[in-house]
Amino acid sequence: MSSAAISAERLARSFGETHALVDVSLEVPSSSVCALLGRNGAGKTTAVRILTTLLSVDSGRAQVAGFDVFSQADKVRARIGVTGQTATMDELLTGRENLDIIGRFCHLGAATSRRRADDLLREFDLVDARDRLVKKYSGGMRRRLDLAASLIAEPEVLFLDEPTTGLDPISRREMWAAIRTLVTRGTTVLLTTQYLDEADQLADTIVVIDQGLVVAQGTPEQLKASIGRPHVRVTLPDLDASALERVRSVLGDQAEIHGLSVSVPASNGLATLSEVVAQLELMGMPVYEVGLEHPSLDEVFSIVTGHSDGAGMTAPATEKNG
Ligand SMILES: Nc1ncnc2c1ncn2[C@@H]1O[C@H](COP(=O)(O)OP(=O)(O)O)[C@@H](O)[C@H]1O
Ligand SMILES: [Mg+2]
Repeated sequence: MSSAAISAERLARSFGETHALVDVSLEVPSSSVCALLGRNGAGKTTAVRILTTLLSVDSGRAQVAGFDVFSQADKVRARIGVTGQTATMDELLTGRENLDIIGRFCHLGAATSRRRADDLLREFDLVDARDRLVKKYSGGMRRRLDLAASLIAEPEVLFLDEPTTGLDPISRREMWAAIRTLVTRGTTVLLTTQYLDEADQLADTIVVIDQGLVVAQGTPEQLKASIGRPHVRVTLPDLDASALERVRSVLGDQAEIHGLSVSVPASNGLATLSEVVAQLELMGMPVYEVGLEHPSLDEVFSIVTGHSDGAGMTAPATEKNG
C-alpha cells in the first residue's frame, strides 16, 4: 500500500440487508484535507468508523498513519483523533476541566495536559469560556471544544464526522477557520459532510459517495471541470439591439446573451477569455466586467449521483469567503 496518511482499498460493509459500504477506496496524502461528501445514509459514518478501528469490514483493506487498521488497531488508535456527531463532554465540568481530564486519560501527565488544555482553549477561541460549565456552552463552542479535545494527544490524522452539521452560519465559519488552522499545523484531516460548500471551502480532494459507492473524486476544480466546461462571462455597460447583433456576429452562435451579460463556452479557459476580450475591444465595445465561470459543485453532485433534485443534500446559504 502507499505512503498516504489514509489509504482504503475496496471497503465493503453490510448490516443485514443494508449495504452501507459497497466499494469505497480512497487515498489521503499527509497534511491534506479530504472531504467525504454524501447525503444522509450514503455511508460516511460507516467509513469513518471503519477507518478509526471501531467497526470491522466484510472485505477490503485500510491503512492509517502507516499502520494496518485491522491488524494494528492499537497503533492506529494512538495516532488518530476523532470527533463525532455526538459530543462526549461532561456537561457538569468546565471546558478546561474536560480538556484536562482527556489529557490525563491520554497519559500526558498533569502539567503537560494542563498546558495543552490552555493552548488549545486559546487556539479555538475558548479562553473566555474556559471556566464555564459545558452545559452553558453554545452549539458552536461545544464543537470547538470537541475539536480541541480530539487534538490533545496531537494526532497525526484527524477524523471529523460532519463537524458543522446543525451549526448556525457564524459558528460554521468559526469551525472552518479552526479546521484550516489544524491543517497548517500538518494534521491530515478526513472530514465528512453533506455540504457542498464546505467540501469546496476546506478540502484538497473530495470523494463523493452515494449508496456506499464512490461516484466521483478529485480536487474541487477537477470535479467542476469534469462535469461542465467553464464559460467566459462578459458584462457590457450598454447593449442596444445593434450592439447586441455585432457582439453576436463576433462571438458566434454559441454566445448566450442575458441582459447586459454575454456568455461563451471557454474551451481554452483563460486563453478563450483573452480572445473574447480582444475581439470586443477590437470592435470598440467597452467591457465592464469579465470572468471565467465554472459549474458549481451542486451541479456536479446532481450529475454524478443522478439525483437531479439534490434531495437530502443541503448547502446552507452562507456566502463564500474564497
Ligand atoms: N449499526 C448499524 N446497523 C444497521 N444499519 C446501519 C448501521 N449503521 C449504519 N447503518 C445503515 O447504513 C447506511 C449508511 O449509514 P451511515 O454510514 O451512517 O451513513 P451517513 O453517515 O452517510 O449518513 C444507512 O442506510 C444506515 O441506516
Ligand atoms: Mg453520518
